[in-house]
Amino acid sequence: MTARDQESATAGGRRDVGSRLRFAVLGTGYWAWWCHGTVLAGRSDVDFVGFWGRDATKADAAAARVGRGRGFTDLDVLLDAVDAVAIALPPDVQAPLAARVARAGKHVLLDKPLALDPVAADEVVAAVADSGVASLSFMTYLFQAEVAAWLDRLRELAAAHGPWEGVAVSCAGSIDTPGNPYIDSVWRRERGGLWDWGPHALSLVLSLLPPVERVSAARGVRDTVHLGLEHAGGPLSALTLTVTAPQSAQECVVTVWGPGGRHTLSLPTGALREAYDRAVDQFLKAVARGSRSHPLDAAYASRIVAVLDAAERQLARPAEQRTTAPIA
Ligand SMILES: NC(=O)c1ccc[n+]([C@@H]2O[C@H](COP(=O)([O-])OP(=O)(O)OC[C@H]3O[C@@H](n4cnc5c(N)ncnc54)[C@H](OP(=O)(O)O)[C@@H]3O)[C@@H](O)[C@H]2O)c1
Repeated sequence: MTARDQESATAGGRRDVGSRLRFAVLGTGYWAWWCHGTVLAGRSDVDFVGFWGRDATKADAAAARVGRGRGFTDLDVLLDAVDAVAIALPPDVQAPLAARVARAGKHVLLDKPLALDPVAADEVVAAVADSGVASLSFMTYLFQAEVAAWLDRLRELAAAHGPWEGVAVSCAGSIDTPGNPYIDSVWRRERGGLWDWGPHALSLVLSLLPPVERVSAARGVRDTVHLGLEHAGGPLSALTLTVTAPQSAQECVVTVWGPGGRHTLSLPTGALREAYDRAVDQFLKAVARGSRSHPLDAAYASRIVAVLDAAERQLARPAEQRTTAPIA
């Protein structure tokens, strides 16, 4: 048993269901098997049961790819066989399934964004609270070692010099790059960088600044969305988000400023499964704890949905009705 296994097995003093949590993945696409399924199937402290999908062939194929478990198409049958579920489905599919999973008394490891509208997100929050299960939203950057260490250092600087006054995040990817696994992702095409990158960018901003109080938004070429966020107490953040950047113009970068200086980090693109493995560590600890609470729980994820929804409502308004002033 590795040190990590030992820690997970004993975290919080107890597990509610034996020593190995029975775990399954909802979803059969690339991210479902490559990340969620591969990591969960490879852990010695998890009993990996398999994949649920609407297509039996794809569910069986996902299980074959990770070499563990089997495919399910009946969600009730799957839920009878597990203690916890990870979800890797489009957000509008994830939210109602997550609420159903939680109401069945199963712990739920969520992906981002939780939902595409606040009502659906709030239903997940209510289901998790009512049933007392653990929830955690996989905010990738926060689990990447390089980013987590950078954020820790910035928190120390803020403690020493005063709070940060602004954050700018630019997330520009291109799902049209040949070989990109999300080239056919319908929800990304429909909802764009705002909903795909937005949760990632907000996870950084909300690690450094107080909650968001007001949102302005504009849409540019290639579906690039620009958000201006006003935070409680006065700090500002600026987010530029797109999944359809020119292939030569892809980059994700964050800059923070305040009395502790100005700091920029080029955001890493790798070590995604390592980050997910750390998220599973924390999820298992939350399951083992009596309170089941976690800072990145369903309620946290719903606050991110609320910000993105406010931006979406701004973008839907006629230009002359937006709060930005026209240039004379
Ligand atoms: N945290 C991260 O860094 C990260 C990275 C990548 C993805 N993700 C998240 O992972 C989730 C899934 O991403 P993705 O890229 O796999 O999305 P996607 O490619 O758009 O999703 C397609 C998958 O969803 C299934 N699906 C679609 N509608 C369904 C329905 N009504 N019922 C059951 N299954 C349905 C499809 O099944 P069929 O094959 O049967 O059509 C397919 O397996 C998203 O929330 C995304 O944001 C997170």
